Amino acid sequence: MAKEEYFVDNERIRSFIETVKTTANEHEQVEPLLADLEKPFGELLTDDDWLPEMYQKLPPDDYEDRGEMGEDIAQWLLYREGHDLALFTLVLPPGAKTPVHDHLAWGLVGIYDGEQREDFYRRVNDDDHYHPDDEYAELEKVRTEQMERGDFYELVPPNNDIHSVTTTSTEPSVSVHLLGADVGCIERHAFNPEEKEIERFQSGYTNIECDVTLEPLVDD
Ligand SMILES: [Fe+2]
Repeated sequence: MAKEEYFVDNERIRSFIETVKTTANEHEQVEPLLADLEKPFGELLTDDDWLPEMYQKLPPDDYEDRGEMGEDIAQWLLYREGHDLALFTLVLPPGAKTPVHDHLAWGLVGIYDGEQREDFYRRVNDDDHYHPDDEYAELEKVRTEQMERGDFYELVPPNNDIHSVTTTSTEPSVSVHLLGADVGCIERHAFNPEEKEIERFQSGYTNIECDVTLEPLVDD
């Protein structure tokens, strides 16, 4: 069994993770799994008592932020189980925006505090023959959603898998992410829709160094 790591440890987070794991054992398909997790995830988002202040804020000035999501953006890892499961928060100050990125894993993402705009995209060029050193990706924006506390959405790759997040409130926004992978440490992609570019991306976590770094590409 993969190693469990609680970076925030209290009864509430343990009971939520227990529910996630029990539910995951009952389903082989992602859609019914996410459907069954909606209620407990929604309840977690509106519960004031489990998420310490530190994980709802940007790190203090003297903190060594190990994350790569962007300057002034925090991604705090709360829990993970090996490569299979991760729970983390994303904290963005007013007006801040993440790069357009994918996740390559199922997930539930919802708002704990503040307000966010989610811009969702899909790839429109043929990516059946995707190669890691391809740099061309054409994206089409498919929808925009304004979200506030308690709102959440599902990631079921390739649906909803590519987005950017912008804080629209005057206070920082805090979103909670439950993902079926160690999403901060895996290799995924960041996009520049205007330039039609894609690049390899490892977001990292603010509080944890990843064991692996992106492998350099080998020229052939
Ligand atoms: Fe994301």
